Amino acid sequence: MTQFNLNVVILAAGKGTRMRSNLPKVLHPVAHKPMVAHVIETAQRLGAAKTQLIYGHGGDLLQERLANYAVQWVEQAEQLGTGHAVQQSIPHIDDNDQVLILYGDVPLTRQETLEALLQAKGDSALALLTVTLPDPTGYGRIQRNVENRVTGIVEHKDASAEQHKICEVNTGIMVANGKAIKRWLQALDNNNAQGEYYLTDVVAMAAAEGVDIKTAQPATIAEVEGANNRVQLAALERAFQLRQAEELMLNGATLMDPARIDVRGQVDIGNDVVIDVNVVFEGKVSLGEGVVIEPNCVIRNSTIGNGARIKANSILENAVVGEQAQVGPFARLRPGTELNKGAAVGNFVEVKGSILGEGAKAGHLSYIGDAVVGAGANIGAGTITCNYDGVNKHQTIIGEGAFIGSNSSLVAPVTIGNRATTGAGSVVTASVPDDTLAVGRAKQRNIEGWKRPVKK
Ligand code: UD1
Ligand code: CA
Repeated sequence: MTQFNLNVVILAAGKGTRMRSNLPKVLHPVAHKPMVAHVIETAQRLGAAKTQLIYGHGGDLLQERLANYAVQWVEQAEQLGTGHAVQQSIPHIDDNDQVLILYGDVPLTRQETLEALLQAKGDSALALLTVTLPDPTGYGRIQRNVENRVTGIVEHKDASAEQHKICEVNTGIMVANGKAIKRWLQALDNNNAQGEYYLTDVVAMAAAEGVDIKTAQPATIAEVEGANNRVQLAALERAFQLRQAEELMLNGATLMDPARIDVRGQVDIGNDVVIDVNVVFEGKVSLGEGVVIEPNCVIRNSTIGNGARIKANSILENAVVGEQAQVGPFARLRPGTELNKGAAVGNFVEVKGSILGEGAKAGHLSYIGDAVVGAGANIGAGTITCNYDGVNKHQTIIGEGAFIGSNSSLVAPVTIGNRATTGAGSVVTASVPDDTLAVGRAKQRNIEGWKRPVKK
């Protein structure tokens, strides 16, 4: 597109009474991210030179939660209408800006749709994003003349019975030339059914000046839907999740049910990933080629290598799973877990801050914390690394090919040598040299002829 500065104005001053919440409406999340943050990120992706956020209620909380975003904060102290809201941005609009108006509670508008709107605008001074609804009740109606040119927008409450029949409605999203919109905004009044300064009145002003007002439409209605209450918020969440599910499928993932996956962040995938039902992804997740995720897993900020399998009901957080590794069912990988190629962590095993070498295995009922486990080591059922003395954490080192007998307690700091063995039930408090058996338990005594107690 040609030379201009895109100046995005995001309306976010409404109180959101129907949310019944202490949180300003636009901070309510879709996919764990405030609605308004979705809008800000869309503006950034469009290459906005400036993004203005028109805020009213909850300014402090907004500024705190959105501190990481480069936005121009513009206060609208009193909410006197959408036109009044955009009037607040006038000091920050240059004559040759392209001003794009978006809404903090309309999070799902796609970049492609807005690019199409900018494209449709071309050299015109104004373009509107409109949508045709089977039930247009409540929306502003697009008025067109016999030549099908847009002549204005009439709000539902100001419209005649005849105008109520119009199904093409105003989404509120528009793009205008900076110089023109400043002029139009300054001419707004509030002589209407709601006593508000309507942004929509700029459309008739433009038409009166002979502007050929252009229009574009979104691909789906969800793109222009807002959330006024938590029912609508849930609908937006589902629409967004379905969109992400479709993206994953188009990128090569098989989803057993696209309606039962939640992505609250970013999932990058290789080909032929299979994701079963009720899997939740959070943060940044990467799944290698051929990864299989069984049902009911939660995977947060983790990287899973090619061909690895995460079995049902496993929870991963800040973990790295090597290729061909196996996790679960019912495993928990906590932050700092690294499984090398072909390693296996089985049911009811918790791992934290530990590295398991290639092919190392912990099959059942263990806690492995702050440990380095050598390649091919086998950790028997019920083994615990006693890494915490009540004050400090200590490391356990388990050598390559070591065999840790079931129910061993490895009292850290402790080192188990390469190919060393610990007897089942051992409490290991001293390091074990390579190729050595450690038995740290009471010797078994057999008492002959011992009689069981009898009931009195
Ligand atoms: C507006 C449009 C209508 C359109 C509809 C689409 C106007 C006059 N009408 O109506 O044509 O069909 O959106 O949803 O523009 N806001 C502020 N400050 C204010 C008033 C509103 O920031 O003083 C924000 C609200 O928080 C909200 C958005 O602007 O996010 C829309 O305001 P709202 O009053 O809900 O407009 P509608 O009556 O829905
Ligand atoms: Ca035990």
